[in-house]
Amino acid sequence: MNFTLLDHALLKCDLSTLRNKHTPNPIFRATLERISEIMAVEIFRALPLRSFEYDTPLERTTGYALQESFLIAPVLRAGLGLQHGFLRFLPDAIVSHIGISRDHQTHAPHFYYSNIPAHIETLHCLVLDPMLATGGSATMATSLLKEKGAKKLTLVSVVAAPEGVKYFSEQHPDVPIFAAALDRELNANKYILPGLGDAGDRIFGT
Ligand code: PRP
Ligand code: URA
Repeated sequence: MNFTLLDHALLKCDLSTLRNKHTPNPIFRATLERISEIMAVEIFRALPLRSFEYDTPLERTTGYALQESFLIAPVLRAGLGLQHGFLRFLPDAIVSHIGISRDHQTHAPHFYYSNIPAHIETLHCLVLDPMLATGGSATMATSLLKEKGAKKLTLVSVVAAPEGVKYFSEQHPDVPIFAAALDRELNANKYILPGLGDAGDRIFGT
């Protein structure tokens, strides 16, 4: 299982704000955006670099640039809450939204939209979805990107349930998962406990 729990004091503080049921929508949205920035910095810590020579005003020196090009795939709707933070550090990334919603009765993922360009084989694809509950939605989004040619993928989640981590890892053992919290379990309605409720509703006030 390729699961990394990001351990950061600021993530712990911001997660407490997200989990609090009294947090108003604008604060929830802003906090999730800050979490996405912290997570991006932590996840990108060891990205491969290429070196190049250039001139400072005083002498020639060695500089560095990211080796890879990126595609960001926010899973609608809640993945939009993570989009900004990742784009901030990867402004040249292609953004491919993937529309998936859970069926309220069966909790199975239902696909309704995607816009993925051709030739994504060489891109590092980041699937963004703050909630990994049963794992159905993230698994479907990742499968779709692989069908379109993606070879290197990473899943970025904020709150993960053990059930979702297990299911996703079984379906996509080659895809690393990063999360800011690994919660206890799912309830009968497949919501994460303690969790933060419905992420999409809390971001958009629906
Ligand atoms: C939520 C969340 C994830 C999914 C996680 O989406 O944003 O995409 O549930 O659950 P899973 O791991 O069991 O699939 P939802 O279907 O509520 O849609 P929304 O983001 O549009 O509210
Ligand atoms: N989707 C959410 O937004 N929250 C959960 O707890 C589970 C799925």
